[in-house]
Amino acid sequence: MGGPEQQVFHPNANIVRKAHCSSMEQYRQMHARSLERPDEFWGEIAEQFHWEAPVKSNFFSYNFDINKGPISIKWMEEASTNICFNLLDVNIQKGLGDKVAFYWEGNDPEDYTRVTYKKLLEHVCKFANVLKSHGVEKGDRVAIYMPMVLELVVTMLACSRIGAVHSIVFGGFSADSLAERMHDCRAKILVTADGVWRGDKLLHLKEICDTALDKCSKIGHNVEKCIVVSHLTRLSNAHTQKTPGMKPPVHKTPFTPGRDLWWDDEMKGASNFCYPTWVDAEDPLFMLYTSGSTGKPKGVLHTTAGYLLYAATTFKYVFDYHPGDTYWCTADIGWITGHTYVVYGPLANGATSVMFEGTPFYPHNGRYWEVIEKYKINLFYTAPTAIRALMKFGDEPVKKFNMSSLRVLGSVGEPINPEAWLWYYRLVGQNKCSIVDTFWQTETGGHVLTPLPGCTPMKPGSATFPFFGVQPELLDENGKIIRGPGEGYLVFSKPWPGMMRTLFGNHDRFETTYFKKFPGYYCTGDGARRDEEGYLWVTGRMDDMLNVSGHLLSTAEVESALVEHPDVAEAAVVSHPHAVKGECLYCFITPNEGVHFSTTLVAELRKKVREKIGPFASPEVVQHAPGLPKTRSGKIMRRVLRKVALNDRDVGDTSTLADEGIVEALFSNRPPEASKLLKAC
Ligand code: PRX
Repeated sequence: MGGPEQQVFHPNANIVRKAHCSSMEQYRQMHARSLERPDEFWGEIAEQFHWEAPVKSNFFSYNFDINKGPISIKWMEEASTNICFNLLDVNIQKGLGDKVAFYWEGNDPEDYTRVTYKKLLEHVCKFANVLKSHGVEKGDRVAIYMPMVLELVVTMLACSRIGAVHSIVFGGFSADSLAERMHDCRAKILVTADGVWRGDKLLHLKEICDTALDKCSKIGHNVEKCIVVSHLTRLSNAHTQKTPGMKPPVHKTPFTPGRDLWWDDEMKGASNFCYPTWVDAEDPLFMLYTSGSTGKPKGVLHTTAGYLLYAATTFKYVFDYHPGDTYWCTADIGWITGHTYVVYGPLANGATSVMFEGTPFYPHNGRYWEVIEKYKINLFYTAPTAIRALMKFGDEPVKKFNMSSLRVLGSVGEPINPEAWLWYYRLVGQNKCSIVDTFWQTETGGHVLTPLPGCTPMKPGSATFPFFGVQPELLDENGKIIRGPGEGYLVFSKPWPGMMRTLFGNHDRFETTYFKKFPGYYCTGDGARRDEEGYLWVTGRMDDMLNVSGHLLSTAEVESALVEHPDVAEAAVVSHPHAVKGECLYCFITPNEGVHFSTTLVAELRKKVREKIGPFASPEVVQHAPGLPKTRSGKIMRRVLRKVALNDRDVGDTSTLADEGIVEALFSNRPPEASKLLKAC
């Protein structure tokens, strides 16, 4: 008997019976065809959609080899279409106008609403006209900093209706991060909300936006308008109506006349008809920033036609979506998972989804399970960090609710440990659901390694096999292909329709980051292992990136936030395992001469990181380092720091260090919270 990761779980017969892809034999045939005849494979899928101009000849072209010229990826280049038209108008023409597109479930269980495909189109057209009235044109960037409210979906689709490019910044990022991103993409307009409740915490988003707008103009770019959804006012009005006598909280949202506009005022007079702007297949659809190992975020750019095909196809096969299913992805739209699998993928399939504003723990620790029961969810998609956090409360909160509607359970964002996988499978899925452990990235646009429900025998912790169109390889340090079982760099040797095309305004950085290390391949930055049966196991990042609760961060960006503190001479950050978050930040700080390393300094440093990046990046441990372990050439030996963080004295060869004595000093300086963290892992 091996550990749980060696067990194989076969899909339940009921799932197999109706699955789009119902055997490994069928999967292999489809996968082979997708690689050998991509034009036929994707061409047939494209037939479900509307093309204003069709593809005439060249279905796709690419160059992945940096030595042969610029990297380029193009799908269906001659075609033109509009993604919003395909998601809404085409579905309405097919008779889905009165179908619910989204059930919106608020932070407070008392707050919920729904929107049909027809209504969504009306709102989208109106807001597209609002954007146009403020001079937004095809190609302009619209920054979005919003909570999980329906207006966020409306804004995204309104942008795509007129060919504008949305650039969403997750609502947990700080004012500094928002300013940096708005400046980098030269946003014309910012769309936000007055605020949001997250659990029992109230966040005043508009105030964060005001600070960010100021900072952005100071660094040289003026965002012309800021459109504000009055979400808090709407909620408190609804509560006042339900509970007579209750007084809404008094908070005046700051408002700059001339620049700021209320969403409701703007929508009042807007026409609910907006002819779609036909765009070329390779015109940009959206950009989304992701952390870069140099510390400066990268504006990942996705284009129209390929992304549409890929979002639609992965959604259909990976969740085994069938008409009539109700689907729920818990991700915030501020991350790529929300883009592709809350908005574009489900709507491209005419699906009904739940959009959730709240947290798993409010008002009680069974909220996820309650929502599953309430909407009879069939397909559920969440992150290992949420599963681990919920496991801590035991089985009771799950058992209180009816989970029998579930058929497919998804996992995304980080490796799922076998223990969490088994809990998800046995308790939530009642031993009958397929678990899809989906590996992908902001850059890949959609799933690239994943099991298919009713098809792939599952192994806990393995993302299994490539999706259609994806050809993975494992490479050794010298770029040699590893065949059969082994471990190496995870790369892809061919483009698939949904992959990124460039980094906004910086094609050089795109080429260097993803294509330079191994010419001829897209390099994910992750490592992976292939077992005897060909299953792929993603082992984690091979660069200086870390994954905190499924959020990718670079050690460099945290270090640069820390060294901004006037009392800090040097900072080095390493990843440390964390029982719930997967990984967390362990920081080493060398203060300036004469500065006392105090709890006040630690608190200020934590605050600094929250301000520069966002609360989710807050360091777990901040340790005093009288010096950092540097080689004679000045390079920090990070493996030594990782060992200190883990209290592992097996540090290996340190003879190249300029000062070997520093290693012992670091071990003896480990703070008590470091031992506590280690014990909890
Ligand atoms: O390290 C991998 C990890 O998350 C990284 C991508 O992060 P991001 O661009 O923010 O997108 C997250 C949501 C798609 C990857 O490079 N990752 C994502 N999914 C998995 C994973 N690691 C292991 N298993 C996964 N299923």
